[in-house]
Amino acid sequence: MKFFVDTADTADIAELAATGLLDGVTTNPSLIAKSGRQFLDVVKEICALTDGPVSAEVVAIDHAGMMREAEILRKLADNVCVKVPLTLDGLKTCKALTGEGTQVNVTLCFAPAQALLAAKAGATFISPFVGRLDDIGQDGMDLIRDIRLIYDNYAFDTEILVASVRHPIHILESARIGADVMTAPPAVIKALFNHPLTDKGIAGFMADWAKTGQTIG
Ligand code: G3P
Repeated sequence: MKFFVDTADTADIAELAATGLLDGVTTNPSLIAKSGRQFLDVVKEICALTDGPVSAEVVAIDHAGMMREAEILRKLADNVCVKVPLTLDGLKTCKALTGEGTQVNVTLCFAPAQALLAAKAGATFISPFVGRLDDIGQDGMDLIRDIRLIYDNYAFDTEILVASVRHPIHILESARIGADVMTAPPAVIKALFNHPLTDKGIAGFMADWAKTGQTIG
């Protein structure tokens, strides 16, 4: 499963890229607002930090407007992936852009039938939002299971990009189901490293090592 980070914070992206486990980056208008930076500047900078796809979302809601914005976004770098909402205009834009060889991430997916539409429109990635479904009392991971089944039934190439990930269990379940990609905030990815027995083990080894009075080198 590929790991994308869901942030517009370039320091966090650089730190995760250095671990070698980062396969791409996703942003959205809310994350850009949180960064306090100019959208085009920050996307360009992120694209230089990873070779993987960097999702940059259009804000127009009509097809012509989306195409105009996509034209600007895809010129920023070769690894820009244009993100469009799962609407009729969004999927028209998806069809046009992927037909021209541009990667497209279709976002704000909350139902299996929506994911089917995105695949038929040629989406590179479909982004089902698991956390926001959990928030309203539905099981977000059920959506991932349904999409996996549907996409496998018809051998669609569209990659399932699990989004709105809130905790490590979402990531573990995504991997169990066979999602292609997950995107999570930096803190959630960093939480995967943690285990109390790892911390306890390091403390024990350090204490025993100190008793030897030795140093390495
Ligand atoms: O970037 C899309 C998605 O991951 C947003 O997540 O936490 O705002 O629901 P969240």
